[in-house]
Amino acid sequence: MINYREKIADLIAPLVEGLEREEILNMIETPADSKMGDFAFPCFKLAKVLRKAPPLIAKGIAEGLSGADIFAKVEQVNAYVNMFIAREDFVKGVVEEVNAADADYGKCEDGEGKTVIVEYSSPNIAKPFHIGHIRSTVIGASIAKIYDALGYDVVRINHLGDYGTQFGKMIVAYRRWGNKQDVIDEPIKTLLSYYTKFHEEAENHPELEDEARATFTKLENGEKEETELWQWFRDESLKEFNRVYDMLDIKFDSYAGESFYSDKMPRFVKELADKGLMEEDEGANIVRLDDYNLPPALITKSDGSTLYITRDIAAAVYRKETYDFYKNIYVVASQQNLHFQQWIQILELMGYEWARDCVHVPFGLVSLESGTMSTREGRVVFLEDVLKGAVEKTREIIKEKNPDADPETAEEISRAVGIGAVVFNELSNYRIKDYVFSWDHVLNFEGETGPYVQYTHARACSILRNAGEDAVAAAKEGFDPSYITGDSAHRLAMLLYELPDVIREAGEKYEPSIVSRHIIDIAQAFNKFYHDEHILVDNEEEKKAKVAMVLAARNAIRNGLDLLCMKAPEKM
Ligand code: ARG
Repeated sequence: MINYREKIADLIAPLVEGLEREEILNMIETPADSKMGDFAFPCFKLAKVLRKAPPLIAKGIAEGLSGADIFAKVEQVNAYVNMFIAREDFVKGVVEEVNAADADYGKCEDGEGKTVIVEYSSPNIAKPFHIGHIRSTVIGASIAKIYDALGYDVVRINHLGDYGTQFGKMIVAYRRWGNKQDVIDEPIKTLLSYYTKFHEEAENHPELEDEARATFTKLENGEKEETELWQWFRDESLKEFNRVYDMLDIKFDSYAGESFYSDKMPRFVKELADKGLMEEDEGANIVRLDDYNLPPALITKSDGSTLYITRDIAAAVYRKETYDFYKNIYVVASQQNLHFQQWIQILELMGYEWARDCVHVPFGLVSLESGTMSTREGRVVFLEDVLKGAVEKTREIIKEKNPDADPETAEEISRAVGIGAVVFNELSNYRIKDYVFSWDHVLNFEGETGPYVQYTHARACSILRNAGEDAVAAAKEGFDPSYITGDSAHRLAMLLYELPDVIREAGEKYEPSIVSRHIIDIAQAFNKFYHDEHILVDNEEEKKAKVAMVLAARNAIRNGLDLLCMKAPEKM
């Protein structure tokens, strides 16, 4: 298919002197109002170079372009050249390409031979996996899918929070007040209760803190009993996390978390010292970052134990040495902005020239309608409960709408739609924005929601089923585009055409909401097309063209949903 922007730049370049083709390419706009054309070229910038009034320049360009066969019409309006493309060729090119590429439409090979690491989810062992964790988990999984679609080799890492002094406390608490069966039955709730109990008791018995420190040192030294307990806590917690990952159909290539780096740190502590970056401060070791307007970073405590940031330094170097990444992406809450600023600055000071290939992708807070969450006060909403609740509610809605549905299918759809609703809700906001979790919004089938998009996809599938396999096969072979040049068909074609660029942009900006917004636009445009046009008409040629268009819309929506980690049921 022709790349229209490139083509337009080629056509305009010889008409204006003093402007590079590349610059022209960047100046081409897509007007918000389709009355102003499919593409527009503003001439303000040219006035200086050409020493002419912008409308006059626009007029000259419009005249120069009017013969080109990619256009139906070219107009000058004030300082703009408004271009209307020849709809038949355009829609034919787009629809044929989408249907030929099928599941690959939207993919490209930009990233060939390059490895991108996406680190996401990364919960802390023995702590609740709550609604807040959905953000990193789902945004990260979607970014990974997007980079995959852009042709990169993607490595998905779950940097588990499975190390640190709190494990000393947990072991002490378990030995004193613990019960094996309770941990097996409900690992996270039980371990958390030990942790809370430890803090309560330690207020009156400060010697517990010393005991915990000593226990952690034993763990660090790899002593058998402590290591086995820690390993057990970790395994039991992971079982619980994995239940949620399974529900979301999210996978990782590596669970190398903080503990993985526990024996890899001395090298970096030494390196920081050798490079003269570290100084002693009351027995602890710190890196001063005053020159960068950042507070000092604590590398080792006075008892020699390392910290979160030390492990992140080791992890970055390990990842570079292991995967030779092109980019190393961390999808972590904006509360950790300072941590990542310090960390990247230290990597740079250490002289790693790839430091800036590490990217922190932050996101805002999620809160509940009833106020903020608090682990300590027990105001926690477990992610697993939210997902189960969404499936449950969807099941009820489906039962109401379609009481005779086959129970097995209904169950499958409830899962796809219920979980999809939560996921889409997560991905339809700019990630940096804080938001309030609301059931009413998430499960609304009419609004700009996951269920709406999935429902639109199912509607397209249903039209294709009614058309019949033969008609669909024929539509793939070819069609007469003159039947699909109406305004709503043209708008839909334009959105399908833009999808590959939209995916690229979402990758560059680490912003899945760019994809979700576009998929909503496609769904709305499709519904308008469906509303405006009679699709399964008697005229075979007309029907074939329209079925081809429906198929293309279906393919694009399905591919988009996949990038958002959502299922696309064919019936709803
Ligand atoms: N476990 C951390 C937390 O729950 C997030 C880890 C983020 N990743 C990293 N490499 N520091 O807050």
